[in-house]
Amino acid sequence: MESTTESELTEITKSSTPTSTDKHAPPVTMIIFGASGDLTSRKILPSIAALVNRGVLDEAFSVVGVARTEMSDSDFQKLAIECVPDSTDAWKSAVSRFRYVTGEYDDLSTFSTLQNVLDELDKTIGTQGNRLFYLATLPSMFAEVASQLAQVGLNKPGPGGLFARLVIEKPFGRDLQSAITLNRSLHESFDEAQIYRIDHYLGKETVQNVLALRFSNAIFEPVWDRRYVDHIQVTVAESIGVEHRGGFYETAGALRDIVQNHVMQVLGLVLMEPAAQVDGQSIRDEKVKLLRSIEIMEPDKVDSLVVRGQYDQGWLEGNQVSAYRQEDGVAPDSNTETFVAMKLMVDNWRWAGVPIYVRTGKRLQKRVTEVALQFKRVPHLAFADRLSRELTPNYIILRVQPEEGISVRFGAKVPGQSFRVKTVSMDFSYGDAFSGETPDAYERLILDAMVGDPTLFIRADEVAQSWTIVDPILENWADEFASPVSMYPAGSWGPTDADLLIERDQRRWLIL
Ligand code: BG6
Repeated sequence: MESTTESELTEITKSSTPTSTDKHAPPVTMIIFGASGDLTSRKILPSIAALVNRGVLDEAFSVVGVARTEMSDSDFQKLAIECVPDSTDAWKSAVSRFRYVTGEYDDLSTFSTLQNVLDELDKTIGTQGNRLFYLATLPSMFAEVASQLAQVGLNKPGPGGLFARLVIEKPFGRDLQSAITLNRSLHESFDEAQIYRIDHYLGKETVQNVLALRFSNAIFEPVWDRRYVDHIQVTVAESIGVEHRGGFYETAGALRDIVQNHVMQVLGLVLMEPAAQVDGQSIRDEKVKLLRSIEIMEPDKVDSLVVRGQYDQGWLEGNQVSAYRQEDGVAPDSNTETFVAMKLMVDNWRWAGVPIYVRTGKRLQKRVTEVALQFKRVPHLAFADRLSRELTPNYIILRVQPEEGISVRFGAKVPGQSFRVKTVSMDFSYGDAFSGETPDAYERLILDAMVGDPTLFIRADEVAQSWTIVDPILENWADEFASPVSMYPAGSWGPTDADLLIERDQRRWLIL
């Protein structure tokens, strides 16, 4: 199965459509815990509907929703239709086979009932004992659900089945210790090979394109190291605030919500060594090796290497927006960070001495995720006196969203008699180069979990290592004497401290 991803990469470079149409799911029942929740109706069910419409699921496919909210099969079926705009006949027909189990997650009878429903579906629909359990519950229930599943034997495939897999949503732990504890609890019931930890950034087409760019081209990799790269900037900027998730966000903050998972995963792909093969083991081995090379901050260095900010009221796209502390579910004196800027160093042969500057935040000026490699200046500028002020160093910019693509910035002569050089940009746009719809991240990941391709899921050692990197920062911030968050107006690019962080090194954040 793992080789599918390899052919998928080749596909990206050859075909006019970037979809992974070569994957087809086997017969399977998908069981969603937290079926009445927001994630199920906003992401999971619409993604399943898209898979059904693309014809990549087997005829023998069903969904069983499980949650505490009282619902009948037909209530759940109605929900599945209503949360998908423009339901097709294929979706309506698939939904007619969906089932629902009401119950508490700490009550064994919920799981015995579930087992009976699954056995029945195996017989009536032909799902052949294959099960994909999707944990979209509160994180505090992950270990409990896994253990209850094991108690009724659902950690193994049903009769004649090939697999029972567990897909786990983020957040995976809230620090290193809780992540280790959660890993241990899960491993009491499921083998690591059965566990698929989701990071939806890995499902994004352009994040995967990092691998294609780096490892299927001869021109980029030779300059992808400390000899040529001056520094790297990673930006994950959002213009939205915490929306209706204030209560959750109070317990998380930007470091846990974005840096520990999405940023670390993107860094892994951008900075890792070439993998021998594009498969679950090789890619994840390289990513974890890279994460292990990221320098762990000494507690007394955190203040000079990390800035935490929180949005105050401000203006965004002509509208006045409120401060984080005025959001629903947020304490009026909250010190939770909605912005983080940090400087990381990688202690390995390739990246020694190359700073990685990361910034992420909510209520920033615009939504943009990108990784920029800034190159060193040429060793000798023969026409330094004739350079335009607009000549910047060279950049390779990997644009993850919203306008997916890659830009290369370099100096070009300004037309005319005089010899002036100015920075220009050569832009590759995903949307222009490929026709066809790009699958949503969830769509891709759910299909991969059904097919059994773990490449884009996070392994236990990766999750632990990324917590190891952020733990000293969390500890520093938890100290009662730690400096408070720096405020920034909504609609800006974060607190001025973030500018100082990079300007101290005679560098600047890229203007986006
Ligand atoms: C989620 C975070 O993991 O990622 C959210 O919990 C954030 O707070 C979201 O808004 C960002 O994802 P995307 O795909 O919009 O960049």
